[in-house]
Amino acid sequence: MAHHLISPSILSCDFLRIGEEVEMLNQSEADWIHIDVMDGSFVPNLSIGIPVVEAICKKSKKVNDVHLMIVHPEKYIRAFHQAGAHQITVHIEASTHLHRCIQEIKDTGAKAGVAINPHTPVQSLYDILEDLDLVIMMSVNPGFGGQKFIYRTLHKIEMLKTEIISRNLPTLIEVDGGVGLHNAEKILQAGADVLVAGNAVFSASHPSRIISQLKSIGQE
Ligand code: DX5
Ligand code: ZN
Repeated sequence: MAHHLISPSILSCDFLRIGEEVEMLNQSEADWIHIDVMDGSFVPNLSIGIPVVEAICKKSKKVNDVHLMIVHPEKYIRAFHQAGAHQITVHIEASTHLHRCIQEIKDTGAKAGVAINPHTPVQSLYDILEDLDLVIMMSVNPGFGGQKFIYRTLHKIEMLKTEIISRNLPTLIEVDGGVGLHNAEKILQAGADVLVAGNAVFSASHPSRIISQLKSIGQE
């Protein structure tokens, strides 16, 4: 297995101590920090907006991996880039002019990603795949941390991986939702390059230890 990346989701952190939580991630083996933005419209929950994202990015020494679960994501690309996002991912289900939206992300200098919900076929990515730095494969219905991994996602990861390899693309597959020590190995074997983990990391008494354990899977 190639060396994979870990992107802990800040959504599950203690928001009263957000600075300390980001510092803990800075000191950990995390590669990216996954920042979930929810608008109460695309998903049935609200999370954080631009000023909080900016504060997190200022403190972060990692790659700031911003996942937009919002309608009309094209309206906010520049603002999130200015807030410090290194990577901006929008949902295929929320973007009518996805190709234009991806080009707008790239024009800012940020890396561009597309996320797909559990019910969205992998094939819907095939005509945009060449333009993407990453795909977020949702393995829960987006909106909340701490949900159960949907195992049918494994097959989608395998299919997408095969497609990426056959076209010789550098596109990364990031798996988001319900990932933990109990299933990470299977997910990596299916072809994931990046693991997002919120609840698994932040509900643990030693979050950085969980990050190390997730990072070391398959490396022995
Ligand atoms: C779900 C978010 C995820 C979430 C993952 O809507 O996009 O990033 O925070 O959290 P866990 O790992 O707890 O499922
Ligand atoms: Zn996410």
